Amino acid sequence: MSFSSAEELSPRESVLVERRYAALHRFDERIPALYRPPIDLPKEVLDWVAGWGGASLFLTGHIGVGKTHTAWQTCRRWLEVQYAADRSWRGTPVIKMFRSTALFDALRPDAPSGEGRTLVRELQTCDLLFIDDLAAARPTEWTQERLFELFDERYINRRPVIVTSDVLPNHLSEVTGPRVASRLAEMCRGSVALLRGDDRRKEPRP
Ligand SMILES: Nc1ncnc2c1ncn2[C@@H]1O[C@H](COP(=O)(O)OP(=O)(O)O)[C@@H](O)[C@H]1O
Ligand SMILES: [Mg+2]
Repeated sequence: MSFSSAEELSPRESVLVERRYAALHRFDERIPALYRPPIDLPKEVLDWVAGWGGASLFLTGHIGVGKTHTAWQTCRRWLEVQYAADRSWRGTPVIKMFRSTALFDALRPDAPSGEGRTLVRELQTCDLLFIDDLAAARPTEWTQERLFELFDERYINRRPVIVTSDVLPNHLSEVTGPRVASRLAEMCRGSVALLRGDDRRKEPRP
């Protein structure tokens, strides 16, 4: 679909343009300030967005290479393309984001009654789930069970996840447990992006 000239847009296209603009604006307000500037996205990421059909994306690389920034901007790009005519949604796609440590805090059994279960359901069913720094939380049987609950439900329904982690996918089993690692391997097959380079946080500011 081309949005080149306002006069040429059909009523349906105009509605999509407006909805896309509003959704991107709301999403931009959720992006932490550090990760708001647009960046060049790696080819694997652009391919994933372009060919998206329910597959997930795994972004890996050393600390500071740009995984979290890339993931936020990938979510934004994903949201943008959902408004193309051939992918048009009836509502607004729901994107949920959690850093793994905050995720486990929110899911703690002593969270106010019922909230943990509601959150699990939201994270199982949202249109795109972004889990940042998957290996940041110390793994326990309990964290692995929580991840299994989320990933298994998303896996069987082909709902996408964007994961960032400085642990390579083939070492993930120690973090997530073998059941989640196995599902993730299939969900992210063909869409693992290894970001290379030095720690950008150590680069001098321009
Ligand atoms: N492609 C990029 N171009 C310019 N700066 C970037 C890029 N990717 C990340 N950064 C910056 O580098 C720093 C580290 O990025 P971050 O995504 O937090 O790294 P990681 O999650 O891999 O530890 C941040 O200041 C971020 O804004
Ligand atoms: Mg990060």
